[in-house]
Amino acid sequence: MTIHPTKPFDGQKPGTSGLRKKTAVFMQPNFLENFIQATFDAIGGVQGKTLVLGGDGRYFGAEAAQVILKMAAASGAVRVIVGQGAWLSTPAASNLIRKRGADGGIILSASHNPGGPNEDFGVKYNMANGGPAPESVTEAIFARTKELTEYAKLDAPDVNLTAIGESHLGEMVVEVVDPVSAYADMMEEIFDFKALRGLFHEGFVMRMDSMCAITGPYAVEILENRLGAAKGTVVHEMPLPDFGGMHPDPNPTWAQELMAEMMGDNAPDFGAASDGDGDRNMVLGRGVYVSPSDSLAVIAANAHLVPGYAQGLKGVARSMPTSAAVDRVAAALGLDCYETPTGWKFFGNLMDAGRVSLCGEESFGTGSDHVREKDGLWAVLMWLNIIAARGQGVAEILSEHFARFGRNYYSRHDYEALPVDQANAMLNDLRDRLTALKGTQSQGLIIQSADEFSYTDPVDGSVSAQQGFRILFEGGSRVVLRLSGTGTEGATLRVYLERYVPGPAGLNEDPQEALAPIIRATEEIVGIRARTGRTGPDVIT
Ligand code: G6P
Ligand code: ZN
Repeated sequence: MTIHPTKPFDGQKPGTSGLRKKTAVFMQPNFLENFIQATFDAIGGVQGKTLVLGGDGRYFGAEAAQVILKMAAASGAVRVIVGQGAWLSTPAASNLIRKRGADGGIILSASHNPGGPNEDFGVKYNMANGGPAPESVTEAIFARTKELTEYAKLDAPDVNLTAIGESHLGEMVVEVVDPVSAYADMMEEIFDFKALRGLFHEGFVMRMDSMCAITGPYAVEILENRLGAAKGTVVHEMPLPDFGGMHPDPNPTWAQELMAEMMGDNAPDFGAASDGDGDRNMVLGRGVYVSPSDSLAVIAANAHLVPGYAQGLKGVARSMPTSAAVDRVAAALGLDCYETPTGWKFFGNLMDAGRVSLCGEESFGTGSDHVREKDGLWAVLMWLNIIAARGQGVAEILSEHFARFGRNYYSRHDYEALPVDQANAMLNDLRDRLTALKGTQSQGLIIQSADEFSYTDPVDGSVSAQQGFRILFEGGSRVVLRLSGTGTEGATLRVYLERYVPGPAGLNEDPQEALAPIIRATEEIVGIRARTGRTGPDVIT
């Protein structure tokens, strides 16, 4: 039997990056099947199409891949290119879609959320350009999930996904590929591998923490096998269904093992970590943490040193809450600089239209138009290539950067799992007072403007309203507040704090101290602690 009756499930609305739910929710009979059928229907079916399939190795990924293969075969897809073991990092999937001219792809991941039977699972559809489906498509998927009465799935034994090669599932070809090689080859085209080999040959020591997630095999192949970094450079290199109990989110809180090593005695020269599906990154020097906003600015200022960008950048883009450090670089280099809402999908149009080649977000995402997703290992290789070309360490590169462009002190404070009503009431109240804030003073800081960010896409004219509150102080400091679109429990309030110091004095302060007046002013204006009863943020980046 190929056609199976079903009933709609509530709550199959894809969020910022696909549908994410507790694994047990996904494992309910027909839940995954419904979502996949709705996806196929929303894209006009998969008859005659070629798809890419893979994920970050988390619990239920291999089983989900079998279901999707049987459904694609039943709906007439001609070929599915799947990573061996159902593994593909998100940027590698994006690359395969583009390189192989596929019609789209399905990525099995809940990104940086923990994995396992009691944690999270996710499914995301990417388009032929290799990027996440735009809202028009995710809305169509959601609409379809509400009216499904049946789905198609071939009755067939599981496909062997452990061996590379082709087999048939009904009429459809299943092509199992090495998940790493095409991606590693692309990196070899972008970066100066010869210079990087030289760096490691001279004794440069690096630690890459793959957090028991998907970048392990990629990092071992690229850093250790192709670039000659010492064996053991990559730690937690084996993707595990529950990520070994780690929370694979590369930030100072969750990558604390790496943080401790980089801040301790005998720290390596360079440290990096990536997330569950390999699109996020954190980079560190010996004793120095590089904030994602600064990382983007440094990469923009030095990209011309990397062979893939030797001809210069087309333009740059950052999400609104990301610091304006990259704007200063863009101004100095005469590059266009775009400010978009949070979410990588907003960069896709700009890249497809050839307006930008480098993008980044404060949420540990950096990438370029080599694919249509952010790319963790790419960012790590950018830094390595810049270090090799400049012959300087991370600390020196950062301090020269600040001396040239000034420093945008920056930090994000997260208040997690707030009662949804409480968080909404607090922000609605702020919205009501926004216009009245202009010209008032708080903690000696004068409010120059206060508004709610709205974005008009310069390529297709679409408008995204209510994308976060901005309070700008005279002198270039600001605070941005928005609710997370990816949290799974209650509401997460993100408070983004920024203060610009032109230098030469005052470039070496501790960010929390440099931002203290803005933190106090924010409390006075918004009343986060007073209203929530919290004594401080849960996460500081
Ligand atoms: C995902 C997206 C990013 C985005 C981030 C924001 O990781 O891929 O592009 O910046 O979510 O998450 P938030 O929880 O702040 O909405
Ligand atoms: Zn991710």
